[in-house]
Amino acid sequence: MVRGPVLLFERSIDREYTLSLWREDLSGLYPGMVRFTLTLCTARETVATFRTNSYEYSPTVPLDAETAARHKAEEWARGLTAHRERFLAAVTRQAPRRPFSATDCVVIQGSPRPDGNCSILAGWAADEVRRMGQTVQVVYPDDMGIHPCIGCYQCYNTGRCTFDDDMAGIIGAVKHASLLVVCSPVYTGTVPGGLKVVLDRFQALHAEKNLFEDVSMPEGVLLAVCGRKGEANFACLTAVVRASMENLGIKYAGEVLVDGVDRVRDIRRVEGLEGRVRGTVRGAFHGVSDRA
Ligand SMILES: Cc1cc2nc3c(=O)[nH]c(=O)nc-3n(C[C@H](O)[C@H](O)[C@H](O)COP(=O)(O)O)c2cc1C
Repeated sequence: MVRGPVLLFERSIDREYTLSLWREDLSGLYPGMVRFTLTLCTARETVATFRTNSYEYSPTVPLDAETAARHKAEEWARGLTAHRERFLAAVTRQAPRRPFSATDCVVIQGSPRPDGNCSILAGWAADEVRRMGQTVQVVYPDDMGIHPCIGCYQCYNTGRCTFDDDMAGIIGAVKHASLLVVCSPVYTGTVPGGLKVVLDRFQALHAEKNLFEDVSMPEGVLLAVCGRKGEANFACLTAVVRASMENLGIKYAGEVLVDGVDRVRDIRRVEGLEGRVRGTVRGAFHGVSDRA
């Protein structure tokens, strides 16, 4: 899918350090994507790495990835020669990963209403997981600090988002879970903004999974409600959630869609619904253990 790197140049500095620039064709991930990796190595270790990719440069930016990488190589060569200690301290500094809590199941409660119908769905799902003796956490994006994706594509250089915020905890949890349950109301035909921010920010997990660490992904279930009558109201929402899961390699293991909720008001009144939700979650979990 991703072709191996090609060495563009190698330069020795003071016979102690080697500066190398590599070019990788990532068009298996995105059409025309090319990534440049600059490494600074000693005989024993890689001291520093800088990556930049062609998708970082918007159409109106008068710079391209290869030029930026070559400039960085010159900057590093100068820094290493002129003020070595200061330079090495700066380039080797790495931000620590945020801690996250690991559970068998992650439920994302995507409605901004903490006490609405999606919270009922999330509660049933979480309770069913606990009944099966598994651990679960319910995350509530609207209560978290998560910056929207800005399309910088820098996650394809590092496997991490440039924003170090609460999304890191969600990504860490999803990576370690066996089941992901997304609960969402229909908002103007699709998912609410807070949930959409989370789905977009999963781009960093897509980058990490494809370019850095082949993490095994959970299975996915969608539980959704909408005010109006008719399954057609879910067309866009299901497409968005499915696209997100497919992009991450999450197998879509089931869904429960509840329409006409404006009239019912409280979905606990819908006959048989709780059993359907619990059954879907249980079925998805059995699917996971059958595969293991
Ligand atoms: C801003 C907004 C937009 C909505 N858009 C739609 C819509 O396009 N189609 C629909 O059937 N229901 C729509 N609804 C109704 C919600 O899907 C419904 O009230 C749902 O039960 C809310 O879920 P919650 O109780 O978990 O918050 C909308 C509600 C809001 C507040």
